[in-house]
Amino acid sequence: MSHAEDHEGTRRDFLYYATAGAGAVAAGAAIWPLVNQMNPSADVQALSSIRVDVSGVEPGMQISVKFLGKPVFIRRRTEREIEAARAVDLSELPDRNARNQNDPSLDAADENRTLDEAGEWLVMIGVCTHLGCVPIGDGAGDFGGWFCPCHGSHYDSSGRIRRGPAPENLWIPVAQFLDETTIQLG
Ligand code: FES
Repeated sequence: MSHAEDHEGTRRDFLYYATAGAGAVAAGAAIWPLVNQMNPSADVQALSSIRVDVSGVEPGMQISVKFLGKPVFIRRRTEREIEAARAVDLSELPDRNARNQNDPSLDAADENRTLDEAGEWLVMIGVCTHLGCVPIGDGAGDFGGWFCPCHGSHYDSSGRIRRGPAPENLWIPVAQFLDETTIQLG
């Protein structure tokens, strides 16, 4: 049993997030119309990419979807959250890599972690980089972002680790906007 699974509070949080996000997810099967029999099964390919309708997500709201077996947080940040994240100097960060799977070479500046230039949309894998619990969001913790209560890791409003045992920032998955209201993961 993994650390995440044997953590009561985390399991509860995850179920909540998964439920909250369920209505917004569209399976990506439609974008894989042709599947060669030599390739992985249609099921596996469909799961490798999903599209999420974010048209109902207002500033200050977060939804969570399950992708490749993990929760993914999609947060539309407020002006205040964006300003706070962008005011942080890199020298203050324990982990100076953006941990962005779209470009592993980027540094941890907030601009390198958000999906759009204005910084409204932050998409992250919701798994604490310490031992894998699911952090609590909505401005939790001492840095106005996410907090992992099991061992006390505080993440800021960009999802960067600021204090506690977690060694790395929350990871950014491969993601892009397909149009103004649809985010594709994978
Ligand atoms: S899993 Fe230990 S602080 Fe997050």
